[in-house]
Amino acid sequence: MAAVPLTNNRSRASVRIRNLRRSFANQTVLDAIDLTINQGEFVALLGRSGSGKSTLLRAVAGLDVDAKGSGEIDVPDRRSVLFQDSRLLPWSTVIENVSLGLYDAGIRERARAALLEVELPGKENAWPKTLSGGEQQRVALARSLVRSPDLLLADEPFSALDALTRIRMQRLLA
Ligand SMILES: Nc1ncnc2c1ncn2[C@@H]1O[C@H](COP(=O)(O)OP(=O)(O)OP(=O)(O)O)[C@@H](O)[C@H]1O
Ligand SMILES: [Mg+2]
Repeated sequence: MAAVPLTNNRSRASVRIRNLRRSFANQTVLDAIDLTINQGEFVALLGRSGSGKSTLLRAVAGLDVDAKGSGEIDVPDRRSVLFQDSRLLPWSTVIENVSLGLYDAGIRERARAALLEVELPGKENAWPKTLSGGEQQRVALARSLVRSPDLLLADEPFSALDALTRIRMQRLLA
């Protein structure tokens, strides 16, 4: 994957990547990547299959420990990742999944509000396996929203959905 053009406004930078490299065995996937994302910006990575989009996203998310030693990766601590599959815990209800790991006062109400925002009222106590694929992805989106992340990373989260649901989900995310 080639280097991405830089923007210059560093004071508002939320993500700042410099000279990031990542290789697997003898295959170099990311080569001297520079990327700046400012607050409030919505950035889409485009590239052919296997070009390194997910590899870059995992590095930015902090999920690739081996990418850490190369270059500079400066990202907000409060970040949230949406994957292609919802990755809900099957043994926890919808609202438990949304509020997973959060114990502050009012979390239940915030989780309920997030479920309303993704148009899933009344599904609080449902089990993930009783939901459709699109509904499960909406629960995953609610789980991200409830954390009020400073950076939301999404790796083709709606690609497994049918075309109409995907359009609705894209509008919802925007
Ligand atoms: N853990 C790994 N071990 C070895 N090779 C890997 C690993 N992760 C990714 N790769 C390789 O790095 C390259 C980029 O993969 P990546 O998943 O980043 O592509 P992508 O741009 O997200 O593709 P797609 O559009 O198909 O999702 C691929 O050739 C892949 O085989
Ligand atoms: Mg990918």
